[in-house]
Order: sequence, then C-alpha cells, then structure tokens
Amino acid sequence: MTKDPSLETAYALETPEDSVQLYSTWADSYDNDFAQVSDYILHEQVARHFVNIGGFGPVLDVGAGTGLCGAALRARGIGQIDGTDISAEMLEVAAAKDIYRATRVENIFDGLATPSGPYQGAVSSGTFTNGHVGPDGLDAVIDTVRPRGWIVVSVNAQHYETTGFAEKMSVLEPHIADLSIAKVAIYGPSATGPNAKDTALLLAFRRA
Ligand SMILES: C[S@@+](CC[C@H](N)C(=O)[O-])C[C@H]1O[C@@H](n2cnc3c(N)ncnc32)[C@H](O)[C@@H]1O
Repeated sequence: MTKDPSLETAYALETPEDSVQLYSTWADSYDNDFAQVSDYILHEQVARHFVNIGGFGPVLDVGAGTGLCGAALRARGIGQIDGTDISAEMLEVAAAKDIYRATRVENIFDGLATPSGPYQGAVSSGTFTNGHVGPDGLDAVIDTVRPRGWIVVSVNAQHYETTGFAEKMSVLEPHIADLSIAKVAIYGPSATGPNAKDTALLLAFRRA
C-alpha cells in the first residue's frame, strides 16, 4: 500500500495500524493540503449540529485529528473539549492550536478513557468512514458519555451502507434515545473531483 497522503489512500486503509502510518505522514499538511484545498466542511456540520440540538461540554472529540472539529466547537462557544485519536502526530497538531483541555492517543477499538468522569457529550467527524472505523466503534463513544448526554457522529454515507451501520443502530436501540439521522455534504461548493459530492449521515442521539 502506498503511504502518499490522499483521500484515495485513506479510503483504502484496512487496519488501525494503517491509519497510524498514513496519518503520521499526513499530519503536518492535512489542514492546508487536504481540508482547505478540498473545501472540507464536515467538521463544521458536526459541530453545528451538536450545538443546535443542545449539546454542551465537557465534550470528547473522537478521532480528533488535527483539531478541526474542536476548533468548530470552540467557535460556537463550547468549552472543555478533549480530543482522542490513534495518531500521535495528528494530535500534536491539534494540541498546538490550544483548543483542547487534554488530548489522548487511543485506538477506539480498545475503549476510550474518561479520566475526569463521563462526558456531557461526544462528537466525531470524518473518522467513521471508508477504511477507518466501522459500526462497532460506536460502543466506545457511547461509553464515554453520561446518561442523556448528546452524541453526534458523522458516518460516510457509502460506509454506512457497506459496513452494517443500520444493523448496528438496531442493536443499539435499547441503549440510546432521540435518534435522528441527517444527510449532509462533506465538501463545500468549491470542491472539485470525484468525491466533491460525497455525503455523510449525521447520527445524533442521546445515551439512554
Ligand atoms: C479523516 S481524519 C478526521 C479528523 C478530524 N476529525 C477531521 O474532521 O478533520 C480521521 C481520523 O481518524 C483517526 N482514526 C482512524 N482510525 C482510528 C482508530 N481506530 N481509533 C482512533 N482514531 C482513529 C485518524 O488517525 C484520523 O485522525
């Protein structure tokens, strides 16, 4: 597998170790060469939705990467944001932005720590996508949040169909409440290329 950072490479990843490798080389250029150039807006969509449905901090940003979603939350007045990600290099970029109260390198499939107690809410943008985290990653996100706390997770629409998210949401039904699903654009109007019109589903729900 080539490790040249690109969306195509990212979508072809197969294991968490692949993510560690890819994002270690992508961290320094991700914001400018990917997010800005491709008019990536998914982090804004997630943060806006979280705030609009009444989410508040302390909040955990899962798969925080370089901190784009944390910055979008902060810009909307949310405080006490912690970030977790499997890539130490991505989190180094995030930490340098001085947005996060704490950052932790963790693999979502090993469970996520809550050293200050359960969070009031959790968000995730761009991490539940092709080649990255599948439906079983939702368990760890839910475990970090207090009962009735809001969770907003973006899932790439194609990934939702191909990896069994609908079945997972049925299994989770007794453990969650107030589920809504909204389809949103991943990229803004100036995006070009084969993925320009890609969409994500925003899964919004409370822990029961
Ligand atoms: C496309 S980036 C999204 C980053 C950021 N949330 C954003 O919207 O720009 C996907 C992130 O998921 C992280 N990731 C992939 N697999 C993971 C796993 N198993 N556990 C935790 N983080 C993971 C990657 O390291 C990367 O930072």
